[in-house]
Amino acid sequence: MRIAFIGDIIGRPGRSIIKENLKQLKKEHKIDFVIANYENASHGFGLTQKNAAELFNTGIDVMTGGNHSWDRKEIHGLFDKYELLRPHNYPLEVSGTGCKTYEVCGEKIAVLNLMGYYGMPLTDNPFRCAKDTIASLQEEGVKNIFIDMHAEATAEKRALMMMLKSQVSAIVGTHTHVGTDDLQIDEGTGYLTDIGLTGCRDNVIGMSSDVPIRRFLTGLPERFKVPDKCKSILQMVVFDISEGKCSNAFKIKTFNDGRKFITEAWID
Ligand SMILES: [Fe+2]
Ligand SMILES: [Fe+2]
Repeated sequence: MRIAFIGDIIGRPGRSIIKENLKQLKKEHKIDFVIANYENASHGFGLTQKNAAELFNTGIDVMTGGNHSWDRKEIHGLFDKYELLRPHNYPLEVSGTGCKTYEVCGEKIAVLNLMGYYGMPLTDNPFRCAKDTIASLQEEGVKNIFIDMHAEATAEKRALMMMLKSQVSAIVGTHTHVGTDDLQIDEGTGYLTDIGLTGCRDNVIGMSSDVPIRRFLTGLPERFKVPDKCKSILQMVVFDISEGKCSNAFKIKTFNDGRKFITEAWID
């Protein structure tokens, strides 16, 4: 199966560039299953029901979350209506789940969403959560496992890869909104430390530059906002996966002006 992953979708510019390009990208690259991260989809903070419906209409199959999953209270009622996940290492009493299994091209694939420790709300240990969850998926006979590791620290994402390589099909990091240049396949596991944002590419992590500049100059709090107009980017990573192993991977960056850049993974 060929799966694609899109990182943090930021506000309307992120949603629009997906609407304008995803169907064509799926067709052109023969993509079977699309996962995307929704945590900043509604004006930079969380996900509304309206935007969930809009995004699932573009050809996305399942969406993962992060620390901003909870920014809109309505999210608690959306987990039963849509294929939405939130980090699996939130305590059991928190609504939603962070792991679901799907059938794609006659094979099962589990999507697991985790959240790191550094700079994040206090949740259960993501490394232990990953180990336990993978053990139960393997017991159920699920070989293909995709992980969105939502974390601030690159070291946490890398350590997860080193702990899990050969046991899962792909691990991609989200949250920083800035892509890293280390797409690789090692022992059959596809890996990218961070995929980077889908939204405005000419501001500060997808948000209007004036707010962070003022915050840095004054030290005073101010709420981020998504620019109304900007140059945007859609960042997508594609993995060929079968029998638990990733055999091929590449990243496609699509700009709103039509430019496209493709980077192949290195294989070890
Ligand atoms: Fe984010
Ligand atoms: Fe985040």
